[in-house]
Amino acid sequence: MQKLIAPSLLSADFLNLGNDVEMINKSEADWFHCDIMDGRFVPNISFGIPVIQAIKKQAKKPLDVHLMIVEPEKYFEAFAKAGADIITFHYEASTHIHRSVQQIKDLGLKAGVVLNPHTSVTLLEDIISDLDVVLLMSVNPGFGGQKFIERTYEKIKKLRSMIAEQNAHALIEVDGGVNTTNAPLLFEAGADVLVAGNAVFKSENPTETIKLLKN
Ligand code: DX5
Ligand code: ZN
Repeated sequence: MQKLIAPSLLSADFLNLGNDVEMINKSEADWFHCDIMDGRFVPNISFGIPVIQAIKKQAKKPLDVHLMIVEPEKYFEAFAKAGADIITFHYEASTHIHRSVQQIKDLGLKAGVVLNPHTSVTLLEDIISDLDVVLLMSVNPGFGGQKFIERTYEKIKKLRSMIAEQNAHALIEVDGGVNTTNAPLLFEAGADVLVAGNAVFKSENPTETIKLLKN
């Protein structure tokens, strides 16, 4: 089992984004988590392709692009060109998940599916062996700084056994309300990657918080 940390730039200082990118480069963090929101799939708008391009110029670690948008398949190529290394899109926003996963892989990227808190992990039974990542939302997507939904632990455990049963390789990523208190419990339950926005960027020492989350 891996223990990866993906700070979410949604909580970064957009006026001085370069400083935060550099902080992550120098920290023990593993991925840059980039939250793309369209104001339709989620009730919020974040940032888009030009910002990903700018981050890519300075980032020394993979860009994990979380698409919270309707018709995500229309934008895979644009995000790949902008510098995404991993693209995850929502189960709830997609009709042809198998095709979409292949499209992302054909672009040379890692592909993942995201589940909202209400979506059962059992729905992934027939696609799990094709996935590089499953991102479990532990809050309702749209905003940083929300309260962690406790039910997530059960979902991680269930997904972990499904992955083992099918001998699949997907990483389990958890996103929303992650902090230094629940991080060890999430890793223990079987998570491989933890996303953290507020916990990192609103802390006094973000570099130290990343280290604490990881260890
Ligand atoms: C929520 C986003 C998250 C968010 C996490 O819609 O997908 O990545 O930035 O923020 P925190 O860690 O503050 O809950
Ligand atoms: Zn996210």
